[in-house]
Amino acid sequence: MTSGNTNTNRWTTGSALPWLLGVTLGLIVGIALLIIIPRTLGSAAAPAATEKPAETAAPAPAAGGTESAAPAAGGAPSAEGGKTFFASNCAGCHGANAEGGVGPKLDQAAAWNLTQFGEAVHEGKAPDKTLAAMMPHFTKAQVSDAQLADMHAFLQQTFGVKAEAAPAATTPAPAAAAAPAAAAAPAAANTATTPTAEGDSAAGKEKFTANCAGCHGANAEGAVGPALKVAKDWTPAQFTAAVREGKAPDKALAAMMPHFTTAQLSDADLTNIHAFIKTLN
Ligand code: HEC
Ligand code: HEC
Repeated sequence: MTSGNTNTNRWTTGSALPWLLGVTLGLIVGIALLIIIPRTLGSAAAPAATEKPAETAAPAPAAGGTESAAPAAGGAPSAEGGKTFFASNCAGCHGANAEGGVGPKLDQAAAWNLTQFGEAVHEGKAPDKTLAAMMPHFTKAQVSDAQLADMHAFLQQTFGVKAEAAPAATTPAPAAAAAPAAAAAPAAANTATTPTAEGDSAAGKEKFTANCAGCHGANAEGAVGPALKVAKDWTPAQFTAAVREGKAPDKALAAMMPHFTTAQLSDADLTNIHAFIKTLN
C-alpha cells in the first residue's frame, strides 16, 4: 500500500510539474500582453491627445470636431494637413475654406508671411492692428510651428498666393498681352516682397501716369475709373489681384478695368504703383 501511494504521489507530482509550468508561462505571457497592448494603443493615440487643448481653449468653434490631422511629418508644410487642422480649430469661426463667418475671411492673412501669421494666431496681433478678443490666442502647445506652417500653406493655396495660382497663368490674356508671361515670376516676387515691400513711389508715379491715369486721374482721384484711395490699405496680393485679374477684395471689377499681364507691368512696377497710391491723400 505504502509503495502504491508513493507511486501514485510520484505520478501525480510528475504530471503536475508540466501543468504548473504551463500555467506559470501562461500568466507571464498574459501579464506581458496586458502591459504591452495599452502602451501600443497609447502611443498611437498620443498625437490626437496633444492637439486637443486647442479644441478646448477655442471659445466654442461651432464646427469643432475633436479630431485633428497630425502635423506634416516634418519637412515641407502640407496644405492638406493644414486644411484638416484648420477644420478642427478655426473653421467654426472662419469657415471651412476660410471664406469667413463669425471671423473674417482670411485672404489677407494668406498674403502675410509665416511670422506675421504666427503672431496673429499666437498673440492676436495682425500687422496693422490688434485683433479683437474673440480671436483666441492659441499657445504653441495648441498650434505647433508645423501646424502653423501647414495652415499657412492651406490659406496660400486657397487664396492663390503661391505659384500654382499665379495671375498670369489663370487670367485670360487681354488684347494687348501677347506673351503668356512667365507664370512663376509674379508669385515668387509676390511671396518674397509681400508684406514689407515698400516700393519706389517715384517710379510708380511714372508707370501710373503711363498706364492708369487716363482712367483713374493723374493722382488717382478718379475719372472714368474710380478713385483708388481704397487700395491704399490693400495687401500687395490684393492689389495685384485687382490689377492683374480684375478681382477686388469685395467684388469682381467691371470689364472696363483692364487686366495687366506681367509682360505689361512687372511685379516691381505694381509694387511701385501701389507705393505711389499710398502716398496720395
Ligand atoms: C471663436 C472664433 C474664432 C476661432 C476659433 C478662430 N478665430 Fe481667427 N478670428 C476670429 C475673429 C472674430 C477675428 C477678427 C478679429 C479682429 O478683426 O479684430 C479673427 C481674426 C483672425 C486673423 C486675422 C485676419 C485679418 O485679416 O486681420 C487670423 C489670421 C486668424 N483669425 C486665424 C485663425 C486661425 C488660424 C484659427 C485657428 C487656429 C482661428 N483664427 C480661430 C475668430 C476666431
Ligand atoms: C480703361 C480704363 C482703365 C485703366 C487704363 C485702368 N483702370 Fe483701373 N479701373 C477702371 C474702372 C472702370 C474700374 C472700376 C471697375 C469696377 O468698379 O467694377 C477700375 C478699378 C480699379 C481698381 C479697384 C478699385 C476699387 O475701388 O475696387 C484698382 C485697384 C485699379 N482699377 C487700379 C488700376 C491701376 C493700378 C491701373 C494701371 C496699371 C488701372 N487701374 C488702369 C478703369 C481703368
